[in-house]
Amino acid sequence: MKEMKNLLKIKSQIDSTSIIDLNNVCGLNGELIVGSGCDLRNLRVIFSAPRSILQIGNNCNIAGIIKIGLQSTCVIGNNVTSARNLAIVVLESTTCSIGNDCLFSNDVIIRTCDGHHINDLKGNRINTSKSVRIEDRVWLGSRVIILKGVNICSDSVVGAGSVVSQSFNTSHVIIAGNPARIVKNDICWKY
Ligand SMILES: CC(C)(COP(=O)(O)OP(=O)(O)OC[C@H]1O[C@@H](n2cnc3c(N)ncnc32)[C@H](O)[C@@H]1OP(=O)(O)O)[C@@H](O)C(=O)NCCC(=O)NCCS
Repeated sequence: MKEMKNLLKIKSQIDSTSIIDLNNVCGLNGELIVGSGCDLRNLRVIFSAPRSILQIGNNCNIAGIIKIGLQSTCVIGNNVTSARNLAIVVLESTTCSIGNDCLFSNDVIIRTCDGHHINDLKGNRINTSKSVRIEDRVWLGSRVIILKGVNICSDSVVGAGSVVSQSFNTSHVIIAGNPARIVKNDICWKY
């Protein structure tokens, strides 16, 4: 584990059957909980503020970066696999929840926040951060971007390069494009 300004205090519960490189974990008072059989050698975890939680279920193989901020939580289910360069950013008291048996192709980005404030001319924030939910058995194609507030229902596919900026509340759909729209209904996909 790396120390950042001597303030590092990660509360870790890591199952002994999982592989994780603790040199890749840094931050302030985060809580990391990892289930059994995970390969997280190529995952970097940044707890950017206190009271941030990352929980990963069993048999996950995740490569990329997960950044979690103040009072924010990322919960990943069982059997979730990502190709290289997954980036998940969860800030400003939001949650990113990912179900079981999901498959994320390379270079997927999932964010609950925009990273910078946008205000109207009276100074009121117009881009509040919102939680993201990806349900069970969702396949995100290469270079998909999931933006704040999005919900993707179970057994769905998101096409390569799609930018998803609104929720889709139907299962078994293919979503694609920018902005993403449903392009097929009543599908199921195999790993
Ligand atoms: C999403 C996907 C699986 C759908 O495949 P499909 O069922 O054969 O879909 P089709 O090619 O029949 O396309 C259906 C419609 O969606 C559109 N579409 C499909 N994929 C799209 C994409 N990624 N972005 C924008 N539009 C897309 C098609 O243009 C078509 O539109 P139309 O009905 O107006 O002609 C496929 O297009 C895709 O994106 N594959 C890449 C997956 C990937 O990233 N794999 C990495 C390995 S894990």
